[in-house]
Amino acid sequence: MKLYDFTKSYQLFEEAKHYVPNGIYGPRTPAFLTYGSYPAFIKRGDGCRIWDVDGNEYIDYMCSFGTNLLGLRNPKVEEAARKQQENADCFTLPSDLWVPLAKKMVETVDGGDWCVFGKNGSDVTSYAITVARVFTGKTEILLANGSYHGSHFWCQPHGEGVPPEWKTHVQYFNYNDAADLTRLVNENKGKVAAVIVTPHCHDAMKDQALPKKEFVDAINSLAKSEEFVVIVDDIRCGFRLQIEGSSAHYGYNADLQCFGKAMANGYPIAVAMGKKELKSSAEKIFFTGTHFFSGVPFAAALATIEEIRASGAIQKIHAMGTKLMNGLKDAASANGVTVNLSGPPAMPYMTFANDPGFEINRYFCGEAARRGIFFHPHHNWFICAAMKDEDINKTIDIAGECFTLVKGKFGGGK
Ligand SMILES: Cc1ncc(COP(=O)(O)O)c(C=O)c1O
Repeated sequence: MKLYDFTKSYQLFEEAKHYVPNGIYGPRTPAFLTYGSYPAFIKRGDGCRIWDVDGNEYIDYMCSFGTNLLGLRNPKVEEAARKQQENADCFTLPSDLWVPLAKKMVETVDGGDWCVFGKNGSDVTSYAITVARVFTGKTEILLANGSYHGSHFWCQPHGEGVPPEWKTHVQYFNYNDAADLTRLVNENKGKVAAVIVTPHCHDAMKDQALPKKEFVDAINSLAKSEEFVVIVDDIRCGFRLQIEGSSAHYGYNADLQCFGKAMANGYPIAVAMGKKELKSSAEKIFFTGTHFFSGVPFAAALATIEEIRASGAIQKIHAMGTKLMNGLKDAASANGVTVNLSGPPAMPYMTFANDPGFEINRYFCGEAARRGIFFHPHHNWFICAAMKDEDINKTIDIAGECFTLVKGKFGGGK
């Protein structure tokens, strides 16, 4: 097999550095992948496939960092977006899809009685902690070490240029550790406004972990006894595990829930939803953005949510993810390589034994990318409903070749 060449990608990346700090910022930089073995820029996509600027084709297991749930260019979603676009997108006032989407969200998500719309996940997680503070009249926000809730100052993992006092009133416990959470709540008695958690632990550079029942129970019962708000940050998992939301899936009694990424299959929109008890607090908060109100993403979100249900997308994603996880496990073991597959099948992740610095993972994923499979060495992957048996079979065949290379270069692990 001829390995991919990325000449144009890296020429463009060098050029980008003249005009943009670091060329590409955030986790999309080639530096967060396997430098030299991945493209830097994508030209087009369709279904579960993307093509880079050098013309190389990939089966994409990053699914646009989770926004692609139904497949790129899904006909139902594109048709709805196109219809709205004919009426124009961004108006002086909200479009007439404002109420239909608010209604659809409330009817769809368990425990969501009202909603507000933003553009990005960070908009609505920041909004949710603000509602919690207004509702409880308390200040402290508790979150798990290593969990990502967005790029805003209060929670961003990199603090350059952020005065420490802008991160005060934010405190950390260990995910899945009910005792540690209880300790932190007790240390802040009477001051906790909210605990914000991801539905399961999907932190970068870690095996994923499903939430332990005792952890979920502790959050639910402490919230009741200590009178704080439970915020479930469903930005990454939302609509991949269960249409009613991941809070329902894992048993959180969420007061506030945040969705974004997949809810419009790639069109920019995010939503915070709350229980009715919090609505009057929500009404006191200043929340806006020029593009929050544009109509096309609303049309796309309505079509996406309808299509997820109508097409059985969640079941398909589960089936394809299960096949991928089993196939990778078998291919690794056939090559004498020890791997760990973690997370729900809708968003799996794989690590290698004895690979604390992720060197083996970067090598494996880089070799896979050079053969047309886009995994990520540091971040959980995603399955979309456009993936078919033959895509998974091809992926497992190529992964098998890459496991052989890993075995030759690093040995098999434990
Ligand atoms: C769990 C979680 N919360 C919040 C965010 C922030 O969302 P956005 O990048 O759309 O601001 C992300 C993004 O990856 C996320 O995964």
